Amino acid sequence: MNNLTDHIINKKSDRIPVWFMRQAGRYLPEFREIRKKNQDFINLCLNTKLVPEITLQPIKRFDLDAAIIFSDILMIPYGFGQSVVFNKGLGPELGIIDKSNLSNINEQDFKRKLNPIYNSIKITSKNQILKNKDLIGFVGAPWTLLVYIINRVSPKKKLKKNFFTNQTLIDELLKLLIKYIKIHILNQIKSGATIIQVFDSWAGLLEEEDLEKYIYAPTKEVVDFIRTLNVPSICFPRNIKNYKKFVNIVNPDVISIDYNVNPEKLLEEIDIPVQGGLNPEKLLEDKDNLKQEVKKYLKIFKNHPYIFNLGHGVLPETNPNMVEYLIKFIKDN
Ligand code: CP3
Repeated sequence: MNNLTDHIINKKSDRIPVWFMRQAGRYLPEFREIRKKNQDFINLCLNTKLVPEITLQPIKRFDLDAAIIFSDILMIPYGFGQSVVFNKGLGPELGIIDKSNLSNINEQDFKRKLNPIYNSIKITSKNQILKNKDLIGFVGAPWTLLVYIINRVSPKKKLKKNFFTNQTLIDELLKLLIKYIKIHILNQIKSGATIIQVFDSWAGLLEEEDLEKYIYAPTKEVVDFIRTLNVPSICFPRNIKNYKKFVNIVNPDVISIDYNVNPEKLLEEIDIPVQGGLNPEKLLEDKDNLKQEVKKYLKIFKNHPYIFNLGHGVLPETNPNMVEYLIKFIKDN
């Protein structure tokens, strides 16, 4: 069994596994080289020659325990037929979607549009370099995808004023999202993904009274589905106020924490494996500062199943040497 899966299933606490969100990305010169020649980000995510190559770039450089397939959570809106473009410096921008668009969404078109992703996973999972390593597939959580589909741009700190106005559209979309997120998960697992991470990047935007409808119930449905496929699930409900309640209700195999979470307090409240936490900005500081902060996490999680990761993705301005240093430090401690 791979080290990462072993940790999750058998609740190990030695030989801490390591991987990073956005480990393949703009901080790597070899990625920037490919990106420069491939301006259309969606097309890049559909390129079955380049996606396996990009996915494995960090594995070739560093002693990581898992690769995460190079893709994007917005491939689901793309599969729905919504236009998705990434403008330099502005983040993603999505096209208008209304009731008539929803009735055109169907499984055949969705699978046809996203099929290159599944082919890339098949190709990647067969690469010898991933022997004894996990290949992480992922989805956006229903809530975060709803945010992008309705808000049409990253909400930064808050949603557009009229976000909840068309409640019928929202309710219908939420149902469709749950259905197609499951399809996307199933296809990734069938193609060779061994773990699924659910990214809920905008979980922190909701008030307590809306969590049941938009986060707890739909995410639990997704996590329950992953469990029926005998694959571990990792949930990352970024900035959610009450991690304990989230874990109790949604019950994922692993909870991934952002850097605002107090890890000591969290450990008093939950007993499932924990992932992440380190502020990615620590990788921009000097080695001593980084080491102190990493030691803190390792000490707190000494006797608890812990997967080393960051509290959010690797920043583009990160020096790859610092990533290498960090991985070595964890492996040697
Ligand atoms: O972690 C990995 O290495 C796997 C690849 C991955 C990407 N996006 C590649 C990517 C993963 C897991 C994602 C998930 C994703 N995408 C999330 C959830 C995680 C999070 O960041 O909260 C979200 C919200 C998105 C949507 C999205 N995609 C945003 C907000 C952006 C940034 C836009 C910008 O201009 O920087 C993207 C683009 C994106 N996705 C990049 C990468 C490497 C950068 C694209 C580039 O090279 O220009």
